[in-house]
Amino acid sequence: MEGLIYLDNAATTFPKPQSVYDFMHEFYQKHGVNPGRSGYDMCMATEEIIHATRTKLTKFFNGNDPDRLTFSYNATDSLNNIIQGMLEKGDHAITTNVEHNSVLRPLYHLEHDGTVDVTYIPFDDRGYIDPDDVRKAINKNTKLVVVNHGSNVIGTIQPIAEVGRICRDAGVYFAVDVSQTAGVVPIDIEKMNIDLLAFTGHKSLMGPTGIGGSYVREGVPIRSTRYGGTGVRSAYRFHLEEFPYRLETGTLNIVGVAGLNAGQKWLEEEGMAAIHAREVTLWDKLRKGIQNIDGVVTYCAGDTDDQLAVLSFNIDGWDAGNVGTMLDVEYNIACRTGLQCAPLVHVGIGTDKIHGTVRISIGPFNTEDHIDTAIRAVADIAAVPKTHKQPK
Ligand code: ALA
Repeated sequence: MEGLIYLDNAATTFPKPQSVYDFMHEFYQKHGVNPGRSGYDMCMATEEIIHATRTKLTKFFNGNDPDRLTFSYNATDSLNNIIQGMLEKGDHAITTNVEHNSVLRPLYHLEHDGTVDVTYIPFDDRGYIDPDDVRKAINKNTKLVVVNHGSNVIGTIQPIAEVGRICRDAGVYFAVDVSQTAGVVPIDIEKMNIDLLAFTGHKSLMGPTGIGGSYVREGVPIRSTRYGGTGVRSAYRFHLEEFPYRLETGTLNIVGVAGLNAGQKWLEEEGMAAIHAREVTLWDKLRKGIQNIDGVVTYCAGDTDDQLAVLSFNIDGWDAGNVGTMLDVEYNIACRTGLQCAPLVHVGIGTDKIHGTVRISIGPFNTEDHIDTAIRAVADIAAVPKTHKQPK
């Protein structure tokens, strides 16, 4: 798309680094066979790259066993594995109002079936949960706490380490959805007391869509919720309990794994802290620029600390969807509008009844020019005479 200003990086980062495209292409041409199924050289070489990627990602999250880093389609897939594989009849779970539907819907289903009770922790007007609320919500039946590390709507980064400490002290398993934060800020399962972590490959880990995964700490009693081929011990009637097979069924998305491998290399070369600092500087410029425009309201965008480069806003008198259309059609700016699959965030910020927000999300390849253009575009739209505005 000639001249497109892509500001929808919370949905997926685009473009990917050239080295990711190149490695995926080369890998699939040279190694595109089914790993772990046979002993011929090409199959073994493919398996080696898969294992090397498990090892890189395990190190990245400070885990200690690469086999416990399992691959799936995406974070939603892994969160389903985690929630359905951990909770049993009579359990109590705790989550937050910051969650994406990838956590909410699996929990709503279990709640609706009468399997579990769930407590939802609210966030404050800055967009943060209070870890003490988690502590107070833990009861004798609490099995699992699931918390979103970074919001895809308002970009706030939750105090994961504090929640992890509370869960560990209470003997409750702690799962974290790192979809928006992996590849942006350090995630250390040891320091943060994380027991289960779900990631997606196609956001800031810079891989393609269709690959994600989890890391499950030793001793965490997760059940397999899907069964099938693993390539080993085929005569055994049941799904294998050992990792990585316990959470992997069928042929892996090997080209996706290759993309993650190259994404890791790119992140090491560029430096995650440097990328995040650049993105947050652009976010701050955007925030200040559009907060100065009459009729614009931003949500939970108060500070650059503990913040991803994700900004939600509305323009008085405009439906968010129509602002998105204007940005696209008139200014060639791609962003996302609506509820962004996180409905309780919108209840919390009061935008659930007005079709959500306009969300601009910044990635590693955005520039100051992109942000200047976005600010000018929002100012132009806000200046449209009231009589010409689309009704809410
Ligand atoms: N969860 C992704 C988003 O926020 C798709 O847009």
